[in-house]
Amino acid sequence: MHASGASTQARTGSGMESSLEIGFLRVAEQAAIAAARTMGYGKRKYSDQMAVESMREELNKLKMRGTIVIGEGERDKAPMLYVGEPLGRGHSDGESYQEIDIAVDPLEGTNLCAVGAANAIAVLAASEKGGLLNAPDVYMDKLVVGPTAAEYVDLKNSVHENLNQMAEAFQRDVNELTITVLDRERHHDLIGQIREAGARIKLISDGDLSAGIAAAVRGTGIHGAIGIGGAPEGVLTAAAMRCLNGRMQGRLMPLEKWQEDRLKQMGYKDRDKIYDTAELASGNDIIFVATGVTEGDLLRGVRFIGGGIRVSSLFMSLKTNTIRFVDTIYKEEGSHLAVSFA
Ligand code: FBP
Repeated sequence: MHASGASTQARTGSGMESSLEIGFLRVAEQAAIAAARTMGYGKRKYSDQMAVESMREELNKLKMRGTIVIGEGERDKAPMLYVGEPLGRGHSDGESYQEIDIAVDPLEGTNLCAVGAANAIAVLAASEKGGLLNAPDVYMDKLVVGPTAAEYVDLKNSVHENLNQMAEAFQRDVNELTITVLDRERHHDLIGQIREAGARIKLISDGDLSAGIAAAVRGTGIHGAIGIGGAPEGVLTAAAMRCLNGRMQGRLMPLEKWQEDRLKQMGYKDRDKIYDTAELASGNDIIFVATGVTEGDLLRGVRFIGGGIRVSSLFMSLKTNTIRFVDTIYKEEGSHLAVSFA
């Protein structure tokens, strides 16, 4: 994502920012705004569609030859941003721009947005070609922790063992850990095991991607995210973990017949394979952006402030080793908006 000459400068933090990187930030911000306009309408598909359309339009403005590797897949039956879709000006104006793989979740937490609940986000990750696993849209058994516990846990270990290890990493008792789990019937046993081990649980109705990110940021009060969620969200979480020094492990889990078939069709044979962070997101030049749609643990939601719109994003680059919390205001044309401090 960098012109080669500029990369050394950028790594020191002094170079000029690549316009492509700023472009990706704008893509996520605009998708978040589009979704936020529908907050509370009770129409999750519609909210998703608004975010998807916005993301597609903005991605097509960028100077790149982009390809979607994680998109709106079979589970959502969405018409755009499908896996393999070409995006960016390189495909239309014939310039030899950089080839980039793109993973998107234009609206993570469609239900959350539909009811105005916390932690809906718009997400995009990008990398050099081949840097993000083209995971099938099936489920994935996941274990996500931040840098403190990254070397202490393993999905092949029991929940009990992992929680004890996390407690050691955080130098506290197990009952002082909080683990996020999707509130699903399939997690009945998992929840029982976590309770038995003594850790606290934060049950969430949706959004294990934002929960995974929260687990890798100190101060959120979340120490890990465990359980079965979407595999595409798993790849995006891994991209974020590469930038945050966290760890995301996942095992593909077909829960329905068509998912079994999909895995076979895509040549995934080893069902027990545990994918580690760098297998899910192997790129050296990863960009990860998440923008808050509704208010969240880590990001503020989109705020319509009269004369402008204020958005809050996490914007990270693996290559330049930067993690930014970005607070952007889009002023309306001719606006006399007085900016407030926060
Ligand atoms: P959507 O944004 O597509 O609605 O997905 C939300 C989500 O909760 C993800 O965070 C999670 O990985 C997945 O759905 C879990 O799937 P399911 O709702 O089928 O259990």
